[in-house]
Amino acid sequence: MSEPTFFIITRGETKLMKPLIVANWKANKTISEATSWVEKTKAPLGSLEKIQVVVCGSFVTLPLLNNLFSGTSVKVGAQTVSHLGQGAFTGEVTAEMLQGLVEYCIVGHSERKKYFAETDQMIVKKVEFLLEKKIIPVLCTANQEQLESYLKESLAIREKAEEIIFVYEPPSAISGGGDYHPETPEAADQVCKSIKEKIGREVVTIYGGSVNPENIKSFLSMPEIHGALPGQASLEEETFVRLVSVASEAVI
Ligand code: PGA
Repeated sequence: MSEPTFFIITRGETKLMKPLIVANWKANKTISEATSWVEKTKAPLGSLEKIQVVVCGSFVTLPLLNNLFSGTSVKVGAQTVSHLGQGAFTGEVTAEMLQGLVEYCIVGHSERKKYFAETDQMIVKKVEFLLEKKIIPVLCTANQEQLESYLKESLAIREKAEEIIFVYEPPSAISGGGDYHPETPEAADQVCKSIKEKIGREVVTIYGGSVNPENIKSFLSMPEIHGALPGQASLEEETFVRLVSVASEAVI
């Protein structure tokens, strides 16, 4: 497996970073469904040069995804990781176990907080373990207060901010959440801007919450939004390929 790709952003005339589209499958797809998804998407996704695609499957699909996407530009990610190291912690999957299998890992998703009682202290431990193993944390933050809490809990988050993808994902914008309402690109852009201001330097910020092929362009056209984390729109092959193709067209 190649070394993780860290992103370079330049202000002004050139933007070197490839926009990042991180598919979050959540608790969906059996091994055979994942295999069929890859069979249908591998060719169109693998040929996109302007976009970095990351597919985050459940733990059981990761060896398969790693294998099937090897040799393509598509990267594989996990959806969570243990906040504890190796040891007597039944059911946990550590960052060390993920090393070599994934290059990215989503951390701090609001559904983990809501259904699995994850705290900000646990989330920052996860980020620290991932950084240690050179897996890129895709760190979700529901609002600016949560980012402040992460920064208060962990020095590493500020110090190694260039090695982290920061996702602004307001829970109210997530499509599985019943009474949801998508964020406007302008409002999401403002929050991404303030994430950078709070950290004090240029970092990669992406947006998540009801992103689909129809609205992806409007998010990517914002100056502070460098990518997206689609959930629902990543499940069906044709929809996801369309989303990524539109995103690719939006890149100059
Ligand atoms: P959604 O999910 O695109 O279905 O709103 C995004 C997420 O929760 O990561």
